[in-house]
Amino acid sequence: MAVILGFALLFASISLATSPNSTTPTSTVSGSTQTSSNGAFVTSMELSVEDLWDMYVGPVSTFSINTTVEATLVPSSSLIPPPTLYYPPFPTGQQIALQSKNESWKFPKDFWYGVASAAYQVEGAVKDEGRGPSIWDVLTHRVTNFVAHNDTGDIADNHYYMYKQDIARIAAMGIKAYSFSISWSRILPFGSGEVNEEALKHYDDLIDTCLQYNVIPMVTLYHWDMPLFLQNTYGGWLSDRIIDDFTEYARIVFTRWSSKVSHWFTLNEPIVFCNFYPLPANTFKATSIPPKQQPFVCGHNALLAHASAYHVGKSLNSSLTISFKNNGGYKIPLTDSAADREATQRAYDFNEGWFANPLFLTGDYPTSMQPFLSTFLPPFTAAQKAALNGSADIFAHDAYTSSFYSAPTDGGIPACTANASHPLYPACYNTTSVYATGWNIGPAADPAAAWLNWATDWVPAFLRHVQATWKPRGGIAVSEFGFAEPFEALKSRPEDVAFDPVRAAYYRAYLEGVLMAVGEGVRVVGCLAWSIFDNLEWSSGYTVKFGVQYVNLTTQERFYKASFFEYVNMFNTYQET
Ligand SMILES: *[C@@H]1O[C@H](CO)[C@@H](O)[C@H](O)[C@H]1NC(C)=O
Ligand SMILES: *[C@@H]1O[C@H](CO)[C@@H](O)[C@H](O)[C@H]1NC(C)=O
Ligand SMILES: *[C@@H]1O[C@H](CO)[C@@H](O)[C@H](O)[C@H]1NC(C)=O
Ligand SMILES: *[C@@H]1O[C@H](CO)[C@@H](O)[C@H](O)[C@H]1NC(C)=O
Ligand SMILES: *[C@@H]1O[C@H](CO)[C@@H](O)[C@H](O)[C@H]1NC(C)=O
Ligand SMILES: *[C@@H]1O[C@H](CO)[C@@H](O)[C@H](O)[C@H]1NC(C)=O
Ligand SMILES: *[C@@H]1O[C@H](CO)[C@@H](O)[C@H](O)[C@H]1NC(C)=O
Ligand SMILES: *[C@@H]1O[C@H](CO)[C@@H](O)[C@H](O)[C@H]1NC(C)=O
Ligand SMILES: *[C@@H]1O[C@H](CO)[C@@H](O)[C@H](O)[C@H]1NC(C)=O
Repeated sequence: MAVILGFALLFASISLATSPNSTTPTSTVSGSTQTSSNGAFVTSMELSVEDLWDMYVGPVSTFSINTTVEATLVPSSSLIPPPTLYYPPFPTGQQIALQSKNESWKFPKDFWYGVASAAYQVEGAVKDEGRGPSIWDVLTHRVTNFVAHNDTGDIADNHYYMYKQDIARIAAMGIKAYSFSISWSRILPFGSGEVNEEALKHYDDLIDTCLQYNVIPMVTLYHWDMPLFLQNTYGGWLSDRIIDDFTEYARIVFTRWSSKVSHWFTLNEPIVFCNFYPLPANTFKATSIPPKQQPFVCGHNALLAHASAYHVGKSLNSSLTISFKNNGGYKIPLTDSAADREATQRAYDFNEGWFANPLFLTGDYPTSMQPFLSTFLPPFTAAQKAALNGSADIFAHDAYTSSFYSAPTDGGIPACTANASHPLYPACYNTTSVYATGWNIGPAADPAAAWLNWATDWVPAFLRHVQATWKPRGGIAVSEFGFAEPFEALKSRPEDVAFDPVRAAYYRAYLEGVLMAVGEGVRVVGCLAWSIFDNLEWSSGYTVKFGVQYVNLTTQERFYKASFFEYVNMFNTYQET
């Protein structure tokens, strides 16, 4: 009953109050115990962060290491590379693997290469030092079967306490950049209002530790962990109230670190987090927005929030590189038919173009999205278009794979766009990773990452496509790429896990593709391997492994994988000094 009452209260009107105790922010909740607040039965109560945890999440797991660990020297014995890996290329037809350097390739001197993580996936320590819950604490704890094996991020990689050693380990491998995200509900436990100083101090030290090791810190403001209080108060990204709250959060973070952090990403993969809507029923604040509209309402507010945050950051320091992380693989028409080519363009429009066209091209959505969007979204005003246009300094793209696209078979694109009940409406394209011949586009990743194939032949074409289509003034960054080694979670000995030939081959072939594109004049400024180590792969839990380091989740020991050596070897071989 307490939870039911809590829901009703949270969904009523809420005003934040300043608490005398800065380490335990509270929120004054005023409103009706009925969701249709009409002034009757008005009540008021103070909610602490602890109350939020108790009402919506419940007990969380903790790990024995719960204070910051100092770094120790990485032993040279752990820096011995694996024996030579051999991989015949496929399907380019070349029969002898390239064992020596291709003299026509090079990465420019200022090309940055790094590894990436995200707060909820690696930090753990979810209730420590004043953090408020995010929607992911609820999704992992309270939504049945939302996450494989009921895994949670409660402990994850315990990076919140082990970051010093983690940064020492990547520095020892020669990594130049570390891209991590800040937990919004650590900085602002209720999402807005009072600031949690302990969290600021934590990230102060994380950033300073990067600088101490000559690792460039790259910060993402939002990697899917919406503060629970904002989701329950007004629906998170479904309300335009998020624009001001995100802007204020961004202002706090930019103000604190704009002198130390040069590279910023506002939003991670809005295509993905907007497509999380509708969120599981009966878990968060209810909404009357129809399910098919919700991702696009989210997208609209996310675009405006991004643009607003971008301008705050640039006003503090115009030299910052600020962008958002777009995502998606290369898109290939399944056949050469006009309908399949149109379907492929629609797939670009409803994915990359949804966010990239407003920010890089026109200040507005792709034309093919307009008939649907105009039925429920207000058009961008001239001022909004002006704020959107150009508000990304580089094109940061998370590009892992590639797929085929085709028109719906039951009446084609026109029958689908005219029929709101069609399962593929409104985007009206179909997709597959299987050639018309029946062959996969490339070897499959782990079965639990069914969306991913090793299909790196497309890399040069895709980079050319991004440059030609969106013409980013600061170039392109591959802000995430990586591979889920098949069945890695089934291996039980660290030496077995560490030898990951498919991931290693993927990184090598992918970077050869980047080198080709660079040689052809595509401006690629950097890349970030996903991920620094194995972590909570969202709803796949810990069953899918993307790390270039293995983590024993029992002991929290880290081990370098062979792919990590292959990754840095490409830069040792090809980067101009
Ligand atoms: C402030 O919060 C701390 C940590 O939870 C607690 O120990 C302390 O008693 C609180 N002080 C007041 C005045 O509420
Ligand atoms: C930290 O962990 C130790 C056990 O290693 C435990 O005794 C202690 O209560 C924990 N402290 C906090 C603040 O959770
Ligand atoms: C996950 O939790 C649910 C609800 O408590 C339970 O029914 C289910 O068996 C659990 N699944 C696993 C794999 O532990
Ligand atoms: C602004 O950012 C640039 C790039 O990170 C940095 O070199 C410079 O020191 C910053 N300026 C100030 C005043 O913080
Ligand atoms: C976007 O900004 C660029 C550069 O300032 C300008 O040339 C272009 O006309 C703008 N486009 C629109 C649609 O406002
Ligand atoms: C979409 O493609 C799948 C096979 O990849 C097929 O089974 C399905 O019927 C197609 N749907 C439509 C509407 O074309
Ligand atoms: C619209 O799509 C639904 C679902 O596929 C289908 O049952 C219905 O016949 C379609 N309506 C028209 C007019 O084609
Ligand atoms: C993880 O560490 C535990 C405790 O030392 C050990 O029993 C287990 O075998 C390790 N697992 C792997 C996969 O290394
Ligand atoms: C070396 O690089 C060039 C330019 O990208 C490419 O055309 C050629 O195929 C590469 N050679 C080998 C053996 O891969």
